[in-house]
Amino acid sequence: MAKPRVLVTRRWPAAVEARLSEIFDAQLNLGDKPLLPEEFRTAIREYDAILPTVTDKIGAPALECDKPQTRILANYGVGYSHIDLNRVAEHGIVVTNTPDVLSECTADLAMTLLLMVARRAGEGERELRAGQWTGWRPTHLVGTKVSGKTLGIVGYGRIGQQMARRAHHGFGMKILAYNRSPVAPDVLAQCQATQVPDLDDMLPDCDFVSLHCPGGAGNRHLINAARLARMRSDAFLINTARGEVIDEAALLHALWFDTIGGAALDVFDGEPAVNPQLLESDRLVMLPHLGSATREAREAMGFRVIDNLQDFFAGREPRDRVN
Ligand code: DGY
Repeated sequence: MAKPRVLVTRRWPAAVEARLSEIFDAQLNLGDKPLLPEEFRTAIREYDAILPTVTDKIGAPALECDKPQTRILANYGVGYSHIDLNRVAEHGIVVTNTPDVLSECTADLAMTLLLMVARRAGEGERELRAGQWTGWRPTHLVGTKVSGKTLGIVGYGRIGQQMARRAHHGFGMKILAYNRSPVAPDVLAQCQATQVPDLDDMLPDCDFVSLHCPGGAGNRHLINAARLARMRSDAFLINTARGEVIDEAALLHALWFDTIGGAALDVFDGEPAVNPQLLESDRLVMLPHLGSATREAREAMGFRVIDNLQDFFAGREPRDRVN
């Protein structure tokens, strides 16, 4: 039987690419260039599976085709708000993602951002590299203590829970959890977390707020001007979820008028473009979407995609089907 034809839309870790080429008739993207919508339209006529990433916007223009050959989009990543599930459903295409395997590394990065923004690490590094450090002094780049403070986690799923573990067990932080559905009592108990039913009620009680909810239309601007106004003027906002969850114009306003203490962002609305006004704020720490960027996580994500494909082509339900 002919091997399924699969298209990989970006460069992947070498070990995963090698395995893909063994099992499938795999077209690798050795140039690592994002696919243009017209290239995607051609691809869904030719390939049995497409393996996209967050940089592939898969909506109506990319899916324009009467009878696609593609039967599965096996996404490399846990978030899939870049895929229009309604459009995909019209073609009966299955979508899978890669949960679990990146939760720890993404939470590590969220904790990194929390510490950086609290301790003004970005400002310090910029000052030192610019040759502007004049030596130790008691009032130099004084930040905020992290240990024992209150962390509000928005989205208490796999990554949110890993963030809670780090913050609670490593830094003695008190955990408040906002989640759309009820969180099991034993899961909350692992970090002595309290679920707060209303986000508006949680925000004023937090020293730090870390976002771990999905992106997409449902959560667009979940953190808007009104919600930022409910945060304390010395509180920090951390986002490793999706850029659209924060209204960036409202965030800039809050920073300009000192109504929050600072923010740390790994994701941006419309990335890789970044609002230039964000770059001007000293109280922002910014990273280029590095949440899952460890060798271990990126390999595990790739092998998880392969598991999903193997299940699918063997006629089994892929474990990470999302639609
Ligand atoms: C994820 O896994 O969702 C990362 O943000 C990359 O898409």
